[in-house]
Amino acid sequence: MKNIYKYLYILCLIATTGAARNPEFEMPAMGWSSWNTYRININEGLIKKQADAIVSSGLKDVGYKYVNIDDGFFGWRDKSGRIQTHPERFPNGLKKIAAYIHSLGLKAGIYSDAGSNTCGSIWDKDPNGINVGLYGHEKQDANLFFNEWGFDFIKIDYCGAGQELALEEQKRYTEIRRAIDEVCDRKISLNICRWAFPGTWAKDLACSWRISYDISPNWDAIKHIIEKNLYLSAYAGQGHYNDMDMLEIGRGLKPEEEEVHFGMWCIMSSPLLIGCDLTTIPHASLKLLKNRELIALNQDPLGLQAYVVQYQNSGYILVKDIERKRGKIRAVAFYNPSDSVCTFSIPAVSLELGGTIKIRDLIKQKPIGTVKEYLQCKLPPRSINIWRLEADKRLEPTFYEAEWAYLPRYNDLAVRPKNITYAPYKGASGETVIRFLGGSSDNYAEWNEVYSEKGGAYEMCISYIPEVNRKLEIDINGKKIVLENLETDVSKGITSVTVPVSLKAGNNIVRMCSSYCWAPDIDCFTLKKIPQL
Ligand code: GLA
Repeated sequence: MKNIYKYLYILCLIATTGAARNPEFEMPAMGWSSWNTYRININEGLIKKQADAIVSSGLKDVGYKYVNIDDGFFGWRDKSGRIQTHPERFPNGLKKIAAYIHSLGLKAGIYSDAGSNTCGSIWDKDPNGINVGLYGHEKQDANLFFNEWGFDFIKIDYCGAGQELALEEQKRYTEIRRAIDEVCDRKISLNICRWAFPGTWAKDLACSWRISYDISPNWDAIKHIIEKNLYLSAYAGQGHYNDMDMLEIGRGLKPEEEEVHFGMWCIMSSPLLIGCDLTTIPHASLKLLKNRELIALNQDPLGLQAYVVQYQNSGYILVKDIERKRGKIRAVAFYNPSDSVCTFSIPAVSLELGGTIKIRDLIKQKPIGTVKEYLQCKLPPRSINIWRLEADKRLEPTFYEAEWAYLPRYNDLAVRPKNITYAPYKGASGETVIRFLGGSSDNYAEWNEVYSEKGGAYEMCISYIPEVNRKLEIDINGKKIVLENLETDVSKGITSVTVPVSLKAGNNIVRMCSSYCWAPDIDCFTLKKIPQL
């Protein structure tokens, strides 16, 4: 085919299939980081060896590209304020190391703190971590790290800034982002390390942000971090990701636990930064890290994080679109965090899929047949199944959990006692509701992809917890409905109210709020098309 025709043909293909193009945003970072295994005890030879191992192990070929030097490289700040590297560990500085990493076709990451002192200076009693943080040296350090040394990525910790200087997160990270952008022409990838979901502002500054305290190589840590990320899907996507912390694969977890760990990090689109010694990594762990089908979930061009679609018998089912928005292909995870066997069963309609569904096991990387109507499986304790589903039909959704909503005022910093939050509630669908909704017009919940195939009249049924003095304002594409006479008897448990609404074809934006008093705690809502006579 002549080039021009080939080009037109490809354009047509994209236009007609809506197939995913190369996204313009960053995908979750993949690579290796020094902290989990070595803490502050790193040095030039060690970093180079790990960089070599990324290439020789084949990890580079499947997408791992960052070599991140975490805490431990600092020496001191000289009289001019310039950072010197540790004299024994990095006698030749970091410029040569970044160049070495680049010479392997990889990217280089560095670490600092938003305050004056590093976390290592506190927790690892590292005297060299004192007065080497970014505070007061933002532009000077940015110039050194990115322009002189050539690093591409930075993780910015908060020990010195929070514990010691009591700075405010949003303001502090904004100052740092500005300083970096002012001195550096290249776009530097930034990771906010504040050990809790910091707030929706983070996506304007960073490619990823930590959502939990430090990971460790045991099951409880893995389970806890997954739990922290279950209801954060609305904040991730397209170049901005919830960071579940560096991987503990190859550091002694059991095989099924490693599958849960890697599988969940993949389907939740967390950065994948390996934390073990790559020169001694067990074969099975390396094989898992190189599973291209799981990696494809993580690096999927839609850049979405899976959300919890069902929670039953202690088992979670999570789902996300892959390859194409609202297409017939979806990825699903059946996750059993419990210590007993868990039986899963979910109607295909709950996954918005119809007809015959082809299943492929992405951990085992093989097809496992077809089903209709229900998806079922049984899983041993602490284990996971991750499937790629390909259905005949994609169905119109009828159900929306409160915990899928985007809450612009949500953060997990525990700085305000009545901050809007996701809270457990027995009897609620998914056993979770959103609490402390309303009180001001910007404290709303938003579902921005409420999808209707053809548009028209619907019945919206909202489930909530009764409480006195509550009001609910529902805003659909800018049109408001106010519900004043809601149930007040809390002893009734989850109650529902039905209102007629009108949707347009395609995606609709639904907001719930109450501008002056609290709204009730919201569980979920359903939509039922009203048949036209
Ligand atoms: C904090 C971070 C870790 C690591 C150490 C370094 O604890 O959360 O990931 O970077 O600091 O001191």
